[in-house]
Amino acid sequence: MRSGLDKGEIKRMPTATKPVPLGDRPAWKALQGHFEQIGGKHLRELFAADPGRGERYTAEADGIFLDYSKNRVTDETLKLLVQLAEESGVREKIEAMFRGDKINITEDRAVLHVALRAPKSESIVLDGEDVVPAVHAVLDKMSGFSDRVRSGAWKGHTGKKIRNIVNIGIGGSDLGPVMAYEALKHYSQRDLVFRFVSNVDGSDFAEAVQDLQADETLFLVASKTFTTLETMTNAHSAREWLLGQLSDETAVAKHFVAISTNAKEVGKFGIDTENMFGFWDWVGGRYSMDSAIGLSTMLAIGPDNFRAMLAGFHAMDVHFRTTPFEKNLPVLMGLLTVWYTDFFDAQTVAVLPYEQYLKRFPAYLQQLTMESNGKHVTLDGTHVTTQTGPIYWGEPGTNGQHSFYQLIHQGTRLIPCDFIGFYKTLNPLGRHHDMLMANVFAQAEALAFGKTAEEVKAEGVAEALIPHKVFEGNRPSNTILAESVTPEVLGKLVALYEHAVFTQGAIWNIDSFDQWGVELGKVLATRILGELESASAPDGSHDSSTNSLIERYRKNK
Ligand code: F6P
Repeated sequence: MRSGLDKGEIKRMPTATKPVPLGDRPAWKALQGHFEQIGGKHLRELFAADPGRGERYTAEADGIFLDYSKNRVTDETLKLLVQLAEESGVREKIEAMFRGDKINITEDRAVLHVALRAPKSESIVLDGEDVVPAVHAVLDKMSGFSDRVRSGAWKGHTGKKIRNIVNIGIGGSDLGPVMAYEALKHYSQRDLVFRFVSNVDGSDFAEAVQDLQADETLFLVASKTFTTLETMTNAHSAREWLLGQLSDETAVAKHFVAISTNAKEVGKFGIDTENMFGFWDWVGGRYSMDSAIGLSTMLAIGPDNFRAMLAGFHAMDVHFRTTPFEKNLPVLMGLLTVWYTDFFDAQTVAVLPYEQYLKRFPAYLQQLTMESNGKHVTLDGTHVTTQTGPIYWGEPGTNGQHSFYQLIHQGTRLIPCDFIGFYKTLNPLGRHHDMLMANVFAQAEALAFGKTAEEVKAEGVAEALIPHKVFEGNRPSNTILAESVTPEVLGKLVALYEHAVFTQGAIWNIDSFDQWGVELGKVLATRILGELESASAPDGSHDSSTNSLIERYRKNK
């Protein structure tokens, strides 16, 4: 277990996190009645009835613009959703998070990723200590190290400069770094090669290093706990690979650094804690890309750009904390997701960045959203009475259009979409960017308004084909626009989703910051591994399916 708490010891919830059960909240009941009235209304009707809707249903924060007019909502819906947020204690819960209350109650931890991007002048006191100076001390240490590696002053064991950086980590210790590296590649130092190893599948490591020279390679072992099976296995393989080439234990000090909260385990692995970049138990793995876990990002884009990214995060934090809910981007997005998940029974949300640099953004969001809100009990341990976290997925546009958009347009499921686009491209190339953006706007328009049978008929389509060519429309979407992919904008976008997830979790009254659902599989895998490797036959104590799969593997491996 990660926390110091034993079963049954969960701390009493603070009063602010003990709202009336969701189904009993007046706003929820009102939303149920309201859904009966407007659930079937078409976006065509809503737009026809309110020509100003496209301008009115928008909000902007620090250059991040949200058009939410193509959602199946009216003024009344929005009023009730905001009321629901108030009745659910969202405001108090936001304050509790920023204040450092231990809102991750099942692990008895504060949730203070917002402190990672707090300016030096701020003070956030946790257990009697201001955490902001420690955050900046780590940032300074990361900056000094990054400067030395980037300039070539940091030499490897044979005196060569570092050319390759391999981040070894998984989950939050991988997805954020990979996503940020890809997103900000434009700003990266191009003579450095970056690779990311996460999977315990040996092919991941083997392919990542197959063309690298050990004496020019730096491994960043990124693990909050420094006990994660995949990461430690890859880190040990990396050490063997390095020593296989350099044949000298002392080389490890020049070629390995650790990013962790666990100095003891780092020391045990053989990494000098001088070469360790720390963070704290109040940073959740999936909320850690702006902590030392972001060292690969800083090495790629440099300390100044990294700090600009933090400034972007912070700007969105301030917006989230201080803006009335009606104009609060993360709150609006969180509420809309609750609306579709619980009233329209939508199972998923598609995130569709029309920006190649954001190609790993949907994968990053999958852990952020689903590890956070994939929960079946409320904070007090009772079973939830509604659906919780939807499935997030997506691919960058326009690729998705030639793949799964068919289902979004004409399938039987309702899939709310987030389109993300930018006014400016980082790589102006002929008409490419206008073409890209034309597709963003076209897709959102087609999804919302569709094409009626009459319109199809008027095009002279044969009678038998008309049903196939009808687009029902009424498929909701948000459109998010920003200037261009800069470090600052990326910080704002990530924080936007972090806080939208927070808002959803606050309404559902779940613990968005634990992840007990990953434990059972880990325990079973450890047991099964013993059975796969043992010379003697396993005792057959699993179910008949698992027993025979193990047996078949043992025979054929
Ligand atoms: O998947 C479970 C999890 O605990 C994630 O929450 C976390 O990001 C990942 O494993 C990696 O953990 P660590 O950084 O401790 O290696």
